Amino acid sequence: MSTIKYLLAAVAAAPFALGQFCEHQWEGAFSADNADNIRKLQERQNTAAPDLEILPLIVNGPSSNRVDFIFLGDGYTAEQRDKFIADATSLTTNITSGQTFADVLPLMNFWAGFTPSAQSGVGVGGRPLDTVYGLYRDGTELRGVYYAKPEVASAACRSTDTCDYPILLGNDPYYGGLGGTFTVTTASPGNGASVLRHELGHSIIGVGEEYDGGSVYRGVNAAQSANSIPWKQWYTDPATEPNIQRTNMPFQAYPWTLLNTTRRWQATFNSAGTYDTHLLQFSVSGVTASTDLLVEIDGKDVGWEVNPVIGVDRWIYNINFEEALSPGQHVLSFTLRNKALEGKAQLCNAEVLEYGETYDFEEFHGIFPTFSASNRTTYRPTNRLCLMRTMQSVDFCDACMEGLWLSLMNPLSLIDNITQAAQPDGSTNVTVDLLPLAQFRQVPNAHAEAYTVFWYGEDEDVVLDEFTNKTSALIDSSTTEFGVEVRFWTEQVRVDNNQVLVFKERYSVESK
Ligand SMILES: *[C@@H]1O[C@H](CO)[C@@H](O)[C@H](O)[C@H]1NC(C)=O
Ligand SMILES: *[C@@H]1O[C@H](CO)[C@@H](O)[C@H](O)[C@H]1NC(C)=O
Ligand SMILES: *[C@@H]1O[C@H](CO)[C@@H](O)[C@H](O)[C@H]1NC(C)=O
Ligand SMILES: *[C@@H]1O[C@H](CO)[C@@H](O)[C@H](O)[C@H]1NC(C)=O
Ligand SMILES: *[C@@H]1O[C@H](CO)[C@@H](O)[C@H](O)[C@H]1NC(C)=O
Ligand SMILES: *[C@@H]1O[C@H](CO)[C@@H](O)[C@H](O)[C@H]1NC(C)=O
Repeated sequence: MSTIKYLLAAVAAAPFALGQFCEHQWEGAFSADNADNIRKLQERQNTAAPDLEILPLIVNGPSSNRVDFIFLGDGYTAEQRDKFIADATSLTTNITSGQTFADVLPLMNFWAGFTPSAQSGVGVGGRPLDTVYGLYRDGTELRGVYYAKPEVASAACRSTDTCDYPILLGNDPYYGGLGGTFTVTTASPGNGASVLRHELGHSIIGVGEEYDGGSVYRGVNAAQSANSIPWKQWYTDPATEPNIQRTNMPFQAYPWTLLNTTRRWQATFNSAGTYDTHLLQFSVSGVTASTDLLVEIDGKDVGWEVNPVIGVDRWIYNINFEEALSPGQHVLSFTLRNKALEGKAQLCNAEVLEYGETYDFEEFHGIFPTFSASNRTTYRPTNRLCLMRTMQSVDFCDACMEGLWLSLMNPLSLIDNITQAAQPDGSTNVTVDLLPLAQFRQVPNAHAEAYTVFWYGEDEDVVLDEFTNKTSALIDSSTTEFGVEVRFWTEQVRVDNNQVLVFKERYSVESK
């Protein structure tokens, strides 16, 4: 595919004017009309495309019938070209090898597009460096990474037919990203792949967040009420639904505060004491040892231990307590213990959740309340399975996976190529090359899939039975027109209202 599908609002409205509550920042809603408007506007601006050196990372088929993802390197100097290719390769491998996008990989191509930047890295404090696309952070906090030159990025994208989803890859070792028109991620060893798969989830499936404390909750994984669940087909136990799981969020905040040893950061919250267990989630950056930070609830050390491989990058911690919070007020506090980390150690977010009866929710698809930044309730399909909620998960929930199939397949054809070969007896051998799914996959996957193929002769209602499920058919010499119908089935799609997984077409016999 060669069109930029989601070129939008960030170009017209400055990206830094966007909502403040998204964890990794996401532009929110987008529409095809908007994309068209902005493309036209940008064509008038006539921004020259940067010189792109394009290298294939994973190529599964012709760009005309694949969804093309291209990493556009930012903040990599000419000397850092090999680092860019290594970073792009490792991110691609991470999100496609046996996890996340592995099942849909035959629909995708991945490319790396290199343009040297004058300076190395991404900007901070709202100021880009002298780089191709001008990536920068708002302050120094490890959160959103924005782009100052969307017109250059869109010109780069339009200059190649390998760009359906441009991914701006910032040469920076720490957490940060953005979803939407341009997916933004960094080369953070600990977080780059997680941020990328999450942001691509927004960009491809068009879903909002699943974590608490956000502002956009929409798409196939979000319901505004228990009466309008779009994932009913994925209920693990339909007989018991709708059954809203019991949970409450007594505390949630994004402090983005630098910690110091003089005074602890603390907050109070209330519990009704009516739940059975609770969870403390928080993220910090700039701490490297478990002795650097004391985390307490009601003066009791919660036993936080640092992720030993994360270095000073941001990391999200979840600590479960198999007991109820007592009724009344509670105090959550963070005390920096290592003075040398003042000015570096930062508390990013913190949240307390209470849960009702505990049972194994690992894969369970039901109805789970999600709480926005303003404590508005929406619903999601799984507790922690989906990477749209849990940054450390490598999996989408079933509802998102179905959405992913349908979004990727929507612009594609199940047929890569159809060829006709006239036979000596006057008949025609018609052969279709199908997308490499089901029995044509090069790398088998763990999900049941099947193709059904029907061939039709001159009469468009009569199936040529002998060729059913074959990828070629002999069309006899008296026939001037024939039809082919291909249906792809995967257990990962249960509802396909728009018949995205069906291809049906009639053709003229060429030799006639
Ligand atoms: C993906 O990257 C994460 C760190 O970002 C790493 O922990 C994980 O092992 C990688 N997985 C694969 C399959 O490469
Ligand atoms: C959200 O609302 C619930 C129900 O009213 C309340 O118990 C909880 O404390 C609120 N949480 C926050 C963070 O305001
Ligand atoms: C130390 O941290 C506390 C809690 O975040 C804050 O209120 C205080 O202003 C900080 N002190 C300095 C000197 O930064
Ligand atoms: C379709 O098949 C024909 C004959 O094998 C080949 O020449 C042509 O390049 C193919 N087209 C594509 C897009 O693969
Ligand atoms: C064609 O393939 C589909 C999918 O595997 C199968 O359900 C169907 O029975 C097959 N039809 C024939 C006639 O073999
Ligand atoms: C059509 O040609 C292909 C390739 O030569 C061959 O494999 C196939 O068996 C032929 N199909 C029929 C129905 O004869």
